[in-house]
Amino acid sequence: MDAAADTETDTAGAGSTARTAAGVTARVPAKVNVQLTVGGLRPDGFHGLANVFLAVGLYDEVTASPAGAPGVKLTVSGRDTRHVPLDEGNLAARAARLLAERHGREPDVALHIAKDIPVAGGMAGGSADAAGALLACDALWGTRTPHSELRALAAELGSDVPFALVGGAALGQGRGELLTPLEVGGTFHWVFAVADGGLSTPSVYRECDRLRESAGTGASVDSVPEPRPSPQLLDALRTGDAAALADSLTNDLQAAAVSLRPSLTDTLKTGSSAGALAALVSGSGPTCAFLTADAESAQTVAAALNASGHCRTARTTTAPAPGATLL
Ligand code: C5P
Repeated sequence: MDAAADTETDTAGAGSTARTAAGVTARVPAKVNVQLTVGGLRPDGFHGLANVFLAVGLYDEVTASPAGAPGVKLTVSGRDTRHVPLDEGNLAARAARLLAERHGREPDVALHIAKDIPVAGGMAGGSADAAGALLACDALWGTRTPHSELRALAAELGSDVPFALVGGAALGQGRGELLTPLEVGGTFHWVFAVADGGLSTPSVYRECDRLRESAGTGASVDSVPEPRPSPQLLDALRTGDAAALADSLTNDLQAAAVSLRPSLTDTLKTGSSAGALAALVSGSGPTCAFLTADAESAQTVAAALNASGHCRTARTTTAPAPGATLL
């Protein structure tokens, strides 16, 4: 596979459309986990989850164009592209190869990812790119894969990839890939504090296990209760009640992320002091998420975070957002 990273000055959007006259672009959302209840470590190395995903309005764009040669050619633009793997392991490139293999054809495609979702930030940006690659390659190649089959391919690629296809809100069970769509009765206002540098998801899960072992509670499926969705949280989503949602937000990976990156405590405190209804680590972190009462409060919280120096930048957005969409 050819791979090349563009410079940071090649901004999202401009990069994706200018170079690909014959390309197909998919827009894919980031997510925050409003509930992330982590069960015990399973023999297959994964953890059973009760994982309530909410898609938020930060997007990557994945453009698939004819490569004119066999293989997957991958380019990336946007911030932090130096942290995006450009080798065989890139999840979007793997998605293109998996879809091609399923249809018995060559994966001859140039993929361009215009990144706006924080890289390795706990917002499933890599998973979103894989979902975008599935959708864009399917359209480019005219392979007309049924949506149910795209979701099955997505689940093979990673636990969070199916959700990026469907968006909105969903309960993820199993390792997160078994989705039940959830009703959302309103718009929620969020601020995301983006950190410098990422955290690796496997290392955060390992730290969660280590903390459980050292607390004496054990980390295996026999010692950790079966994870279940919170009825209060599902009600708060259904009624669009931000205060009630704030009261029920939980993330079992938060202690592990903070243990690996203690400075996150300051970030969380800064947003709470500026009036956020609730503060939590997004997924495996290190992005911190702040739920606010309205758009105005979101601006106040973002300004406080930006002024504090406790994050690289703070972004405001709303949820729910749609899943992967062809532009
Ligand atoms: O599924 P995905 O490839 O995104 O998972 C990355 C890693 O995160 C896994 O290899 C595993 O270490 C951890 N993980 C987990 N339990 C889950 C999901 C992910 O332990 N339910």
